[in-house]
Amino acid sequence: MNATTSPLKSTRMHVEPLPFALGAIVTGVDLRQLDAALFAALHATWLEHLVIVIRGQQIGDDDLTAFSARFGVLDEVPIVSKGQAPRYNKHISVISNIIENGVPIGGLGDDEVLWHSDTSYRDVPPSASVLQALEIPAKGGDTGFSNMYLALETLPPSLRERIDTLSAKQDITYTAGGQRRDGFTPVTDVRACPGATHPLVRTHPDTRRNALYLGRRRNAYILGLDVAESEELLDTLWQHATQNFLAWHHQWQAGDVVVWDNRCVMHHRDPFDASGRRIMHRAQARDAARPARDPAADGAPHPRGQHYLAQQLAR
Ligand code: OGA
Ligand code: MN
Repeated sequence: MNATTSPLKSTRMHVEPLPFALGAIVTGVDLRQLDAALFAALHATWLEHLVIVIRGQQIGDDDLTAFSARFGVLDEVPIVSKGQAPRYNKHISVISNIIENGVPIGGLGDDEVLWHSDTSYRDVPPSASVLQALEIPAKGGDTGFSNMYLALETLPPSLRERIDTLSAKQDITYTAGGQRRDGFTPVTDVRACPGATHPLVRTHPDTRRNALYLGRRRNAYILGLDVAESEELLDTLWQHATQNFLAWHHQWQAGDVVVWDNRCVMHHRDPFDASGRRIMHRAQARDAARPARDPAADGAPHPRGQHYLAQQLAR
């Protein structure tokens, strides 16, 4: 546990690491009043724990956008799904199950959202996703996060070696919630669907550690393999990467702002009852360069997940 005092006398950031393979709860900060030193401390905490939950924020859309922009290049929102209300603004996506006058005000509805990292079908996917909870249902809709450094580090060595230089294409056609995007046609051949190609093992540009980068399962295709071979290898990798020991599930409170690192984290959402109201606003920032495997990265593990595993073994 560590506490960081900022030059702002009234502010005392407190970090509580969670007893899982990733994640920390941050209290004592106001995201509207972050000086450079406090942001640097928050950013370092994020790199260390992969996902941070910042509690008790009463911030508006401009604050959310300004905070997100500090993580990199502010991203434009993804294309909304068919039948959904037009985008809310250029930089904020609404994630919600609320339907007004027959039109969903946001994306992802109330169903389960399968494990994924955000907008992996783009050439330069977001590094930071910043999700603010405005309204939260009484039950359900928890968001799971999973440590993809640890997923790579715990792969059987032969499999780790096999994927070392492989890349996969990520389909843009469907949202993470399974809805087809406006203007896209159904996919019949995974080799032909539109989307970006990324290495299955990527080097995190800030930590210099390697992580497994799967993006999303639906319509993914590993280049150079037969479709059947690609499907089999992807199934094996996904089975490994979605194991419980890699994950932690966050139970939201209104006022939470959660920042996850798509370069080393996948996320998942539990379904919730349609009668509950859930409204989130999300902004995203990206790096300047596309995901890459740096052969000069030394292959040392990221400490966060390893620390958790060591604790589990010591029990
Ligand atoms: C997202 C997402 C999950 C959730 O915003 O990218 O996948 O819990 N959301 O709403
Ligand atoms: Mn997502």
